[in-house]
Amino acid sequence: MQNNTFSGESLRQKLIVLDEIGSTNDYLKSQLSNFKPLPEWSAIMAKNQTHGRGQRENVWCSEPNSNITFSFVLYPTHLPLTDHFSLNMLISLGIIDWLESIQVKATIKWPNDILIGNKKIAGILIENKSAGQSIKQSVIGIGINVNQKQFFEDIANTASSILNETGKFIHDLPEACLNLLTHLHHRFQDHKCKKLNDSRLLQEYNDNLFRKSIISSYSTGNRSFEAYLLRVDKTGELVLLENNSEKKYYFKEVVFNLQ
Ligand code: BTN
Repeated sequence: MQNNTFSGESLRQKLIVLDEIGSTNDYLKSQLSNFKPLPEWSAIMAKNQTHGRGQRENVWCSEPNSNITFSFVLYPTHLPLTDHFSLNMLISLGIIDWLESIQVKATIKWPNDILIGNKKIAGILIENKSAGQSIKQSVIGIGINVNQKQFFEDIANTASSILNETGKFIHDLPEACLNLLTHLHHRFQDHKCKKLNDSRLLQEYNDNLFRKSIISSYSTGNRSFEAYLLRVDKTGELVLLENNSEKKYYFKEVVFNLQ
């Protein structure tokens, strides 16, 4: 049974939409450090983000009033630090669920990207604070390219938007953000109450994995090689088959060669 403690209305009350902000992750983190703790699922969406941040110190550029850029806070104290990859899986699958609800088929490119075809349309930035052996606070930032048509030259070959890839224009971005939050919330509730157990979560993540069970090109440092993608395991390592032997790679140790 779905726990309805947070109905659509309650999540609606938790979503604040700002016209312009540097970075929704930074804004939420500053609110969390300045004031008494915000309730879980408090969310900030920005119509325009002037200093959006991505993974690995990258910038996240997003055309104003065209996309979804937002962050929300969770206190997943029930999750041991060793299970931190569950957060990535739940968030990635929540995004996939929302896209499916608008008839868009996407895949998860390990570890944190959402793709339509070969093009990245969404990225996830998770910033955790730990206490002892558990995750005390998690600020989760999501950027989804929705209606943006043009991309800077340096990313034009690898990035795209829902509009460019499917022809779907989404008019009400705050409402779309709320629907996305609702899908994310369902995933977390199902996981918390064990309706979605750890092995099914991992299975679903793997079922939606970009380039799963095919041979593709990867790079580590200055070495490029071909390998067969076997799976991602529960600790978040990418398991590749290279020259008939299994090799495991942690975040940042290997990247896909997309071209
Ligand atoms: C990535 O793919 O590198 C992660 C991108 C995350 C971008 C989002 S947009 C909302 C939130 N605020 C930020 O500054 N970054 C995240």
